Amino acid sequence: WDPNWLDRPVALVGLSGCGKSTLARLLARALSWPWYDTDAAIAAAAGMSVADLFQTYGEAEFRVRETAALTEALREAQVIATGGGIVLQPENRRMLREYATVIWLDAADATILTRLAADAEQRPLLHGDAAARLAELRARRTPLYAEVADVIIATDGKTPLELVQQVIA
Ligand code: S3P
Repeated sequence: WDPNWLDRPVALVGLSGCGKSTLARLLARALSWPWYDTDAAIAAAAGMSVADLFQTYGEAEFRVRETAALTEALREAQVIATGGGIVLQPENRRMLREYATVIWLDAADATILTRLAADAEQRPLLHGDAAARLAELRARRTPLYAEVADVIIATDGKTPLELVQQVIA
């Protein structure tokens, strides 16, 4: 057991709609740690939503900014909510493995689709046939989340507070 483990940032990864941002805030509060949301940081710096950024500058530019945000976030012991695509870049996976304790939040497709239906506008990668897109993203990204995850948590049927307790335990 490595005592330095306690000082490592905790990064939450997983597909859109699996509860990363909600859990990050609650977990940070429970640990008295700061929290950092890579999407929120990118949007604040750009002065526009992630969806508008995708539209205006394209996904490649978003990914560059996402790597910069992750680099910044990993400098501090804090809870980090990442975007679902954070694992796409090999550099991001390397940094997550090296500097963070990574928790992979998983949820069933039906749960994710219900949650995302509420703000579909803000999820550019799920436009069109959302169920098919989600299946595709899940297939492509599952091995990438597995590559970085220290812990996997199934979130279906659990309340946010139950999840916080599970993560802390
Ligand atoms: C993305 C997920 C989004 C956001 C961007 C791209 C993805 O974050 O980073 O729209 O590639 O899955 P959430 O996981 O918070 O929806």
